[in-house]
This record gives sequence, C-alpha cells and structure tokens, in this order.
Amino acid sequence: MSLAEFFEECPDVRYIMYGGKGGLGKTTFSAATAYYLAKKGHRVLVFSVDPQASLSDIFERNIFGQGEVEIMPNLYACEIDADRRIKEYQDEIRQKIRDMYGFEEVPGEIENYMQAASAEPAMEESAIFDEVVNIVVKGGYDYYIYDLVPLGHALYYLSMASVYDQWITKITRLREQMREYDQVMATVRREKEVQEDQILNELEYIKGRINASSGILTDARKTAFFFVLTPEEMIILDTKKAADMFAKFSVPIRGYIVNRVVPRELLDEKIPDYLRNRINMQKGFLEEIDRSFGSSVLGRIPELESDVRGIPMIEKMARAMFGGW
Ligand SMILES: Nc1ncnc2c1ncn2[C@@H]1O[C@H](COP(=O)(O)OP(=O)(O)OP(=O)(O)O)[C@@H](O)[C@H]1O
Ligand SMILES: [Mg+2]
Repeated sequence: MSLAEFFEECPDVRYIMYGGKGGLGKTTFSAATAYYLAKKGHRVLVFSVDPQASLSDIFERNIFGQGEVEIMPNLYACEIDADRRIKEYQDEIRQKIRDMYGFEEVPGEIENYMQAASAEPAMEESAIFDEVVNIVVKGGYDYYIYDLVPLGHALYYLSMASVYDQWITKITRLREQMREYDQVMATVRREKEVQEDQILNELEYIKGRINASSGILTDARKTAFFFVLTPEEMIILDTKKAADMFAKFSVPIRGYIVNRVVPRELLDEKIPDYLRNRINMQKGFLEEIDRSFGSSVLGRIPELESDVRGIPMIEKMARAMFGGW
C-alpha cells in the first residue's frame, strides 16, 4: 500500500501524526501531507507545540502564537505558544479558585503552591495537552495533523492520561489544603462552607476530557500514526524500540515512511565514489527495513536537492510522498 492509497481506503482517519527521532522529517511530512489533503479539497489544520516554531520556518510565515493561520485555501497552520498557554492556564486555575471560594484574591499560600506546581513538568505538559485537546474538540476541520516533537517527548504526550492523573492528584491535594484553609477562613470571616460539589464537578470534567482525548489518540479508526525513519543502522534500531513502546500505549501505528533515500538511478550516471558508496550502503539498510516492517512501509522518499521550505518545495515533497494527483 502507498500513502495515497492509505488515505483513500481509510476515509475515517481524521488525526494524523508523524513520529520519529529528531530531524528525520516529521515537520516536512506533516506540512506536505497537509498540502496534499488540502489540494484534494479537504479542510486541514496542521499544528504543533514545538517552541522551535518549525512550521513558521517551513511555511515561511510567522505563525507562532498567532492562532490558526490560513496558509492557502483549505490549509491552516497553528503553532501553540506553550509558555503563554501555561500562564493562561494558571490564570484560569486562579479564577476557578477565586470563584469556588469566593475570594477576592488567591491567598498567598495557595499562590505559592501554584508557583511550585507550575515549575513541575506535569503542569507544563497538562497545559500544552489541554490546548491540543481544545483544538481537536473544537472541530471545524476534516483533518488534524499534529506535528510532533522528537520521539521521547512525543511518547510523553501520548501517555497523557497518566500525566493528567498526576494533575488530578495535585488538584485533589490542593483541594485538601483548601479545605484546611477554608476552615480557618470560615471561622475568621464566617463565610459559607466550601462548595464541595463544584470542585468535584471540575474533576469530573477533567476526567471526561482525559477519556475523550486519550480515546482519540488510541482510536485506530480515526487516528493514524506513522513512523519516519532513514536507511541508517541506529535509526532502524531506535525505530524498532520506539514502535514496541508505542504499541504498549495502544498508539495505532499505521505505517513507516523511509526518508532521504538517495535515488539508485544515480548509479547509472557519473557520480563521485562517496555517493556511490552511500547508495550501496542504503541498499542494505532498505532491505533490512523491508524485512523488519514489511508491507507497513508506505513510502520511500528521495533525498531532495535542497531543504524543504516554502510552498513550491512542499508541493515537490507532497508529490514524492503521494504521487501525482
Ligand atoms: N527528503 C528530504 N530531502 C531534503 N531535505 C529534507 C528531506 N527531508 C527532510 N529534509 C530537511 O531536513 C531537515 C529536518 O527535517 P524536519 O524539520 O522535517 O525534521 P523533524 O523530524 O521535524 O525535526 P525535529 O525533530 O527537530 O522536529 C529540514 O531542513 C528539512 O527541510
Ligand atoms: Mg519538527
């Protein structure tokens, strides 16, 4: 099967992710897939939480932190400014605490606690993931392409359910602290009892979102996860390991795409020895890839003459990935 056939045969797939080690071509493939699907008449959003702003680079537009920006008809891109999102997230929590407890200001102790909590990765990851969930839950597009950060981190996002668990534990702890605090406040200010229900509602809401979002990520009908690799020994080894781990998280791995293949036809031409050697070395690794991943290999993408940047190069890459259309 080819990538183009995959999308034809799986029209229910809505969420697309390319995973792989750093620098192998995830952003390039995300942009080219978005371009292809948009050209086919689908409304597509490609988005990332990468602070490197690599979508801005590839589309040659400053879209970082700008929301959903139209790149061309049907193609939208969005780069989430994670730092800003974390601040907003904290403000939302502050607001909730104020509302729940009827405070004018968040008490100093709680503020200190929030500062400490926000320094922990779980808070950052939750804030980012929350934004991703927002984008997906909001709807409005036929396809969502999530341009992932390199593997290790990606795994982290994909195992968000456990991260959310940590968050809930924190909130629950916060709630307990608040209850202690509230008893003091109640006697001092004679205010009404804490509205336990409101807090529980909040927790239930979060739980509901966890289920919805981890459901989307692991729904094999709607979600397709592709591995990007190159014909190199270490990359093949790492990809095998990662694939095993992803399978443990029930991530629906739908195929492997081999990038940066030097065209064999070059052997017929007068080329320098180093290139000839490289092609012959790649041949062995390509065979190894076929042995390991078999019919799940959905494409071999040639090394292009330059970096992929700007619409004309993205189109060229899309044609290399999907053929003509
Ligand atoms: N087939 C190709 N031919 C030529 N250049 C390529 C090809 N594939 C990728 N590149 C270039 O390689 C570089 C890395 O690609 P890309 O940014 O897509 O990788 P990535 O996996 O998203 O990296 P990161 O892990 O940092 O997010 C880019 O400059 C891109 O233009
Ligand atoms: Mg990238």
